[in-house]
Amino acid sequence: MENLLFINACVRGERSRTLKLARRFLDAYQARRPDAVVTERDLCAQRLQPQYPEVLDERDALWNAGKLDQPMFDPARQFARADKIVIAAPFWDLSFPAILKIYLERISVTDITFGYDQQGAMVGLCRASKLLLITTRGGNYAGTELEMGTPQLRALCAMYGIPEFLCLDAEGLDDVRNDKEALLAAAMERADKLAEAF
Ligand SMILES: Cc1cc2nc3c(=O)[nH]c(=O)nc-3n(C[C@H](O)[C@H](O)[C@H](O)COP(=O)(O)O)c2cc1C
Repeated sequence: MENLLFINACVRGERSRTLKLARRFLDAYQARRPDAVVTERDLCAQRLQPQYPEVLDERDALWNAGKLDQPMFDPARQFARADKIVIAAPFWDLSFPAILKIYLERISVTDITFGYDQQGAMVGLCRASKLLLITTRGGNYAGTELEMGTPQLRALCAMYGIPEFLCLDAEGLDDVRNDKEALLAAAMERADKLAEAF
């Protein structure tokens, strides 16, 4: 039975176009794989603390004591165990909302999501075969050096040992010259296609 982890970083909740696109993808995915278990982690509902000094101190103390089974590391263990991962996050300030960065810092734990071999080289410890970022952008940035969200997530996939990184996007949604309904509808169709092979 496949276990898909859905990380929801769509700050505008049900008004979010990114979330609508993600729901369309997940519905299509679930239709093709009725026995897959989809677990959602809503980052706005959960409100993880940023790694302020006291949070980092607690994390270091637990880690140094070998207590990787403590609740502080639950998000990392859940991420490491997932067979497939979908992240939905709007394009904010050329990357993604801070709540997602806080989550990524929380799950980047040595000996859970990544580690080091005898030679000191980094090795990924995550089980997932692929990670999909679903995003929508106000302007057109795909493939430019100003788009900083996908390079960061692609690099983190390499660190976590997740071989395949994919991105499903809809762009130009806040450009008054564009037909945003048509752009979103086209992205929804791409979501259906992508779900077939995911
Ligand atoms: C705080 C904030 C920052 C944003 N930064 C950018 C940006 O840097 N570039 C861009 O093209 N659009 C930017 N946008 C527009 C969003 O990417 C766009 O409206 C997107 O579709 C919002 O997704 P949502 O409907 O899922 O919230 C920003 C929107 C917000 C609220």
